[in-house]
Amino acid sequence: MNSLGLTTLCCVLVVVGTLECFSYAQLDPSFYDSTCSNMHSIVRDVLSNVSQSDPRMLASLIRLHFHDCFVQGCDASILLNDTDTIVSEQSAAPNDNSIRGLDVVNQIKTEVENACPGIVSCADILALAAEISSELANGPVWEVLLGRRDSLTANQTLANQNLPGPNFTLDQLISTFDNQNLNITDLVALSGAHTIGRAQCRFFDNRLYNFSNSGNPDPTLNTTLLESLQAICPNGGPGTNLTNLDLTTPDTFDSNYYSNLQLQNGLLRTDQELFSTTDADTIPIVNSYISNQTLFFENFKASMIKMGNIGVLTGSQGEIRTQCNLVNGNSATLATFTSKESSQDGMVGSI
Ligand code: HEM
Ligand SMILES: *[C@@H]1O[C@H](CO)[C@@H](O)[C@H](O)[C@H]1NC(C)=O
Ligand SMILES: *[C@@H]1O[C@H](CO)[C@@H](O)[C@H](O)[C@H]1NC(C)=O
Ligand SMILES: *[C@@H]1O[C@H](CO)[C@@H](O)[C@H](O)[C@H]1NC(C)=O
Ligand SMILES: *[C@@H]1O[C@H](CO)[C@@H](O)[C@H](O)[C@H]1NC(C)=O
Ligand SMILES: *[C@@H]1O[C@H](CO)[C@@H](O)[C@H](O)[C@H]1NC(C)=O
Ligand SMILES: *[C@@H]1O[C@H](CO)[C@@H](O)[C@H](O)[C@H]1NC(C)=O
Ligand SMILES: *[C@@H]1O[C@H](CO)[C@@H](O)[C@H](O)[C@H]1NC(C)=O
Ligand SMILES: *[C@@H]1O[C@H](CO)[C@@H](O)[C@H](O)[C@H]1NC(C)=O
Ligand SMILES: *[C@@H]1O[C@H](CO)[C@@H](O)[C@H](O)[C@H]1NC(C)=O
Repeated sequence: MNSLGLTTLCCVLVVVGTLECFSYAQLDPSFYDSTCSNMHSIVRDVLSNVSQSDPRMLASLIRLHFHDCFVQGCDASILLNDTDTIVSEQSAAPNDNSIRGLDVVNQIKTEVENACPGIVSCADILALAAEISSELANGPVWEVLLGRRDSLTANQTLANQNLPGPNFTLDQLISTFDNQNLNITDLVALSGAHTIGRAQCRFFDNRLYNFSNSGNPDPTLNTTLLESLQAICPNGGPGTNLTNLDLTTPDTFDSNYYSNLQLQNGLLRTDQELFSTTDADTIPIVNSYISNQTLFFENFKASMIKMGNIGVLTGSQGEIRTQCNLVNGNSATLATFTSKESSQDGMVGSI
């Protein structure tokens, strides 16, 4: 069980006579080396195929990992569908009609299950897909820590509470990230994921016509960009049209997201806030990423790894789902559920 990379500490708790065992587990980049050594290439092949016809998918998968991690940790809770016992996070306000890539994750899972049944968690697939997406968009490359397990629950209420909104103030953003033990360097670096992908008008159109009931557009929005956004997002329209988050290089992972902010070309209010909030501590960080893209990439990698460690389930916690949208044991998956458990149980040798 060495490959599980576990540091296990057992202790006896004299609580109504039960023996409880706490496992302090570490994620490990070589977690699947002996059990599913081609996992990395499977994920990469699917994504490199899909991104040829749908380059936006790389962005969508990075976002999916983020929306997973901020809600009860990186445990694939976002993938669980509505059932009798699950209230899906997918219909929480920040996710509803907005998250993409669930079908691609299922495609990856199917191929990984064919190669190594019952081994790889959906939470790890999300983490690895996010990294490979960065790589395929010419962004930073890092070694993904693995060994997460999948949750038995989801929490839609928590998704509404923990995920930031596009109209948040900088103080609200800082506190949302602080709740996850992420600091302002992490906030600025991770916001740089908006160097790729798209957003719907409804997430920023409050800036275009009557911002904060002023009767005028957001004064921190570049007037040239304003005009083109007003054409795409008619006043009072449904807000479903899409536009690029990064005005200059929409599908390339680079530091132009930050240079845009200097020209008031941030798309979401929360993007522009990082640079346009008077005297904010985030301004020098933005400037440093503009002058040094390597620094942005280094910080982005560190922050993605930090985010990927939030609230992970390891050892014998949770499970390895057979189907990413369902908890095992659900009637729909009973047929494939048997015989997977003992090989997955990191605590087997230690109880
Ligand atoms: C700082 C607070 C953040 C806010 C308020 C925010 C909000 C949003 C919104 C409203 C969209 C558009 C969704 C849509 O139109 O359906 C979006 C897209 C996106 N977000 Fe964020 N986000 C934040 C941070 C992050 C972080 C930390 C990451 C990843 C590390 C991220 C990655 C993305 C990506 C890649 C897209 C494009 C997705 C696509 O095209 O499908 N965002 N975000
Ligand atoms: C990728 O596409 C190629 C050619 O279309 C196909 O042969 C291959 O099976 C695909 N691979 C995956 C992992 O989808
Ligand atoms: C989960 O929901 C999606 C979208 O509603 C659907 O395509 C998928 O088949 C569902 N998965 C299962 C296992 O029911
Ligand atoms: C979801 O999270 C909220 C807020 O932390 C908590 O009060 C609630 O008990 C959780 N619900 C479930 C179903 O776990
Ligand atoms: C944020 O945390 C990282 C370590 O995770 C640290 O290197 C960095 O200096 C911190 N930034 C701030 C502004 O505290
Ligand atoms: C956005 O925030 C501003 C001030 O913080 C507020 O006045 C405005 O009503 C908000 N807009 C929306 C659409 O929530
Ligand atoms: C802006 O919104 C406020 C509050 O809804 C309204 O009183 C005002 O007339 C609006 N201004 C314009 C120019 O539409
Ligand atoms: C989408 O944008 C086009 C202009 O590019 C505009 O004519 C159309 O009304 C918009 N549709 C919606 C649903 O806002
Ligand atoms: C607005 O953006 C354009 C480029 O898109 C730039 O040339 C101009 O300087 C920007 N205006 C301001 C006030 O930053
Ligand atoms: C850019 O940042 C990298 C990573 O922190 C650092 O090694 C390098 O010295 C910086 N370059 C400049 C010109 O400051």
